[in-house]
Amino acid sequence: MRFDALVLNASLRQSLVTVRSLGRRGLRVAAAGTERTLPALASRWCGRRLVFGPPPDEASGDYLDKIREWIDETGARTLIPSHDGTIALLREHRSQLEPRVRLALANEPALAVAVNKQRTQVWAKRLGIPVPREAVVRTVDDLPAALKEIGLPAVVKPSESWLGTGQEAVRVAPVLVVTATEARRAVEQVTRFEEPVLFQQLLSGRREAVSFLYSNGQMYARFAQWAVRTHPPLGGNSVLRQSIAIPRDTGRHAEALVRDLDLEGYSEVEFRRDADGTPYLMEINPRLSASVEVAVRAGVDFPYLLYQWASGAPIEQQNGYRIGGWMRYLGGDIEATVDCLQQRGRPGISRPVKTIVDFGVTFLKPMGYDYFDWRDPLPAVRATSGFIRTTFKRLGSRMRKAVLGKAAL
Ligand SMILES: Nc1ncnc2c1ncn2[C@@H]1O[C@H](COP(=O)(O)OP(=O)(O)O)[C@@H](O)[C@H]1O
Ligand SMILES: [Mg+2]
Repeated sequence: MRFDALVLNASLRQSLVTVRSLGRRGLRVAAAGTERTLPALASRWCGRRLVFGPPPDEASGDYLDKIREWIDETGARTLIPSHDGTIALLREHRSQLEPRVRLALANEPALAVAVNKQRTQVWAKRLGIPVPREAVVRTVDDLPAALKEIGLPAVVKPSESWLGTGQEAVRVAPVLVVTATEARRAVEQVTRFEEPVLFQQLLSGRREAVSFLYSNGQMYARFAQWAVRTHPPLGGNSVLRQSIAIPRDTGRHAEALVRDLDLEGYSEVEFRRDADGTPYLMEINPRLSASVEVAVRAGVDFPYLLYQWASGAPIEQQNGYRIGGWMRYLGGDIEATVDCLQQRGRPGISRPVKTIVDFGVTFLKPMGYDYFDWRDPLPAVRATSGFIRTTFKRLGSRMRKAVLGKAAL
């Protein structure tokens, strides 16, 4: 059997959403991940389960060889990656891959800007889009000047979230720093990869994201959501999110940026507002994001549109969607709640009572849950057992450390 699409990075929630979206439309989908037990591989729509590893390194040269084998084996014409490390790998080798398969990735010049926060900001500033006040730190010696200019608390983050190469490559998330010691530690985490650090003012307002499917000067779909809670609590994965009407300001800024960059395919432009409501650009994600299911449930089937665009088929025009729909990632929300309790008193963290009440009250709202779909129940079963397994493992290692610590005293 020949497959229409090969969906990579099956450990990611957006990969499961993609398998389901394409499968429901009657397309033949193969999916690849690093373990047999991944939720996306359990979907009824997954026609072929492909496994790579150990080691589970989806950014390595060996992985690239495997992808080539899979392309031959499945006959898939379209390849859909979502992991930043895999995307970096595919970009490096796209000239050899593209004659055989279509990559669901924007063209190289636009992509090179979109994956890099510093370059995105330079581009945005030219268009009059507000960006956070920030200093660029190249070594720890630049830190005192940055502390003086931006002050504390602040946010430290790398310009690209996927750092290093091969075995050493890691994803580095933004870190909230409250003291000079914390700032130094966070800066060292990034500069050891010889990457510049963005040292930014801390914004405390609403987090919004505007998504598009854009091709050849035409906007085929627009969608907006806001993230109520995230994991980690500073920002990252949205664990509670809602579809909203496209805000006038962020909608206008985001669309101007995508058009000016000529960023084809799917993209999500993230903003955070300050306490007064002014939105500041965070970054562009030029790939499907973990939260994309809230758009699919609201009526904008981005994975399918992305497939249409990448495969060269005519793209359906989407007009409008349902606003007010809620979605939750329960495993992430549990972890975020525990983190908030541990980080009480830090900027942006609610009081413990409020944290627990908010978590509990969310069960009373009509809500979609990531992984859960009655027409395709197995991925949720896998996700739940995986969550329980990793939680017990983590608890076990914490307890072991505590016991060993006591024994050493
Ligand atoms: N300067 C900042 N102030 C407040 N929150 C921030 C700041 N920078 C990042 N965040 C939060 O962290 C999230 C992740 O940051 P982002 O720049 O998108 O990096 P990543 O590549 O890790 O997604 C943002 O969506 C936002 O919620
Ligand atoms: Mg982000």
